[in-house]
Amino acid sequence: MPPHDPDGLALIKPSVRTQAAYTLAAPTARHKLNQNESPFDFPPELKREVLERVAAQSWQRYPVFAPPELLALLAKHYGWVADGVLVGNGSNELIQSTLSVALGAGDRVVAPSPTFSLYRLLTAVLGGCYVPVPLGDGFVFDVDSLIDAAQREAARVIVLNSPNNPTGSALPEGAVERILSQTEALVVCDEAYQDFGGPSAIRLLAHSSRLVVLRTFSKAFGLAGLRFGLALAHPAVTREIAKGKLPYNVNLVTLAAARTALDHAPMLTARTRQVIEVRDRFVAQLGKVPGLAVYPTAANFVLIRSLTLPAKELFRRLLDDYGILVRDVSDVPQLSECLRISIGTSEDMDVVISALEEII
Ligand SMILES: Cc1ncc(COP(=O)(O)O)c(C=O)c1O
Repeated sequence: MPPHDPDGLALIKPSVRTQAAYTLAAPTARHKLNQNESPFDFPPELKREVLERVAAQSWQRYPVFAPPELLALLAKHYGWVADGVLVGNGSNELIQSTLSVALGAGDRVVAPSPTFSLYRLLTAVLGGCYVPVPLGDGFVFDVDSLIDAAQREAARVIVLNSPNNPTGSALPEGAVERILSQTEALVVCDEAYQDFGGPSAIRLLAHSSRLVVLRTFSKAFGLAGLRFGLALAHPAVTREIAKGKLPYNVNLVTLAAARTALDHAPMLTARTRQVIEVRDRFVAQLGKVPGLAVYPTAANFVLIRSLTLPAKELFRRLLDDYGILVRDVSDVPQLSECLRISIGTSEDMDVVISALEEII
C-alpha cells in the first residue's frame, strides 16, 4: 500500500508538475486517422528481411552504438556526411537530447504556436523557458515575429517544425536562412513530415553549425512501431548531442529495420507519393463540404475547422457512427472547433468525405 501522503511529489520540480503529460487516449477504430501514421504497414517481405537480419545476430550482445554502414546509408539518403548523423529511438529522443545538451536553467526556447506539444513539455522538464510565437492568419509561419522574439529573448534555441503539426503549414522558402542569419540561436528544424511536402533545411547544414535537422522513419517509412529517427548536424555538434542520449538507445531490431527500409527506399518513397496524391484529392473534396474551413497542408494530415457543428460533436459522431478516429485538437488555444485528420488510404478518405457530408 503506498503511503497516504505523497511526499515524493514535493521533490519534483514545480516546472514539471505544472505541465500536462504527453498522453493519448486511443480508442480502436476501423479508420484510424489520429496519429499521422502511414496507412500502409511495412511490407511483409521487408518484415521477413528484418527478422532474418535480427535472427542472424547475437541477442545477448549490446547493439552497436551506430553501425557505420547504416550511418553511411543515411548520409547518402539525406545528402549529408556520415559523421554528422546521430540515430535515435524515434526522433522524439533526439528532440530531448538536443534540448538537454543546449538548455540551462532559464534559457529561452522560441517556437511557433500552436506546434508539437513535446517541445514545451521538454523545455519545462529541463528548466528552460518556453516562448511561443503565434502563427499568422491561416496558420502561416510569421518569420518576422519569430526573429523578433528570438532577438528580444536572446533565445538559446528556436524550434521550427515544418510542415507544422498540427496545422500542416510549411515554412516559406528562405525562412531558415533568414532565421539563422538574424539570430544567434541553435535552430532545430523538426522535419518529421517533410517527406510529404515543403522545403527541407538539410542543404543549409553545410553553411551553419547552429542548425540541427531532425527526421523520422515513423511517418513516410511506416515504422512508427519500431521507433527510429535521426538528427543531422555539423559533426562537432552531433558529437555533443550524442552526450545527451542514453547508450545503446537504438535496439538491434530497430537498427535492422532501418537498414532494410533504406535498402528499399524507392519502394517506400513510391508509397509516400501515393499518400500525397490521396491527400491532394481529399483536400479538394473537403473544400466542397459546406460548414468547414480547410487549412492548406504540406503534411500527411489536414486541419479543419467546423463552422456549424461543435467540433467535439463532430469528433464523436465520426467515431461512434462511422468508425473514424481523428484527432480532436479543439482544446488547443487558437484551434477552437478544429480537428486534425491524418491521411489514410483512398478508401479511408472516401469514407471520411461521405461521413462529413452526411453529418454536416
Ligand atoms: C512534429 C513531430 N516531431 C516528432 C514526432 C515524433 O516522431 P518519432 O516517432 O520519430 O519520435 C512527431 C510525432 O507525431 C511529430 O509530430
